[in-house]
Amino acid sequence: MSLAIIGGTGALDLFEVIEQKRVETPYGPPSSAIARVRFGALEGWFVARHGRPHRIPPHRVNYRANIDALHRLGVDRIIAVNAVGSMDPRCGPGALVVPDQLIDYTWGRLHSFSDDDIAPLRHIEFAEPFAGSTRTALLEAARRAGLRCHDGGCVAVTQGPRLETAAEIRRMSRDGATLVGMTTMPEAALAREAGMDYASLCVVANAAAGMDETPISEEAIHDVLAGAMADVRVLLASL
Ligand code: HPA
Repeated sequence: MSLAIIGGTGALDLFEVIEQKRVETPYGPPSSAIARVRFGALEGWFVARHGRPHRIPPHRVNYRANIDALHRLGVDRIIAVNAVGSMDPRCGPGALVVPDQLIDYTWGRLHSFSDDDIAPLRHIEFAEPFAGSTRTALLEAARRAGLRCHDGGCVAVTQGPRLETAAEIRRMSRDGATLVGMTTMPEAALAREAGMDYASLCVVANAAAGMDETPISEEAIHDVLAGAMADVRVLLASL
């Protein structure tokens, strides 16, 4: 098994770096050099989804290059760390959640390897978008580390980079979503196309728009994520 972490907002400096690799792909360059990292007893690869420094917005991430680069390095299992807002009052700021479903509201992203002549047309099976064994590994790692981590949730994936309106969040809740983020798609589907296991570790940064009286502030999001990333590091080290 060869593991990679795709880290999002707040996850840049979680690991000890052993080496950095620049990987070329037919889809262009990945968001950053791919780092060989050590976490706990494991070694694996790490990609900074928004680049290093953190500059690439969610709708401009080259998801195809990131997944293809990891595939070329022999990765077969991906853990994505995603910052999200929460519609679930049980999962407040700082909570960790391993979702089991998603709804894709993004548009205009290059969301398939089957878009051109490079890869044959495939209609992947995607009823369960996250790999059960990788979800279980995350939940067990949390349990071993003594961290509270919610099992299950449905991520609404929005285009961003703006946050949502209160009405959009009400609509997504009616659709069945309990979390909202901007980066799980097309990443999860591309990993499935490439034949890799993929699961998401969501870090709740804020209550979703309109869920409480206080407006969402970027400063508050960054403060919550800075604290929660310590838990993410402990969880991943116990994998
Ligand atoms: N909405 C979408 N993406 C997010 C949010 C949010 O409220 N918080 C962190 N990422």
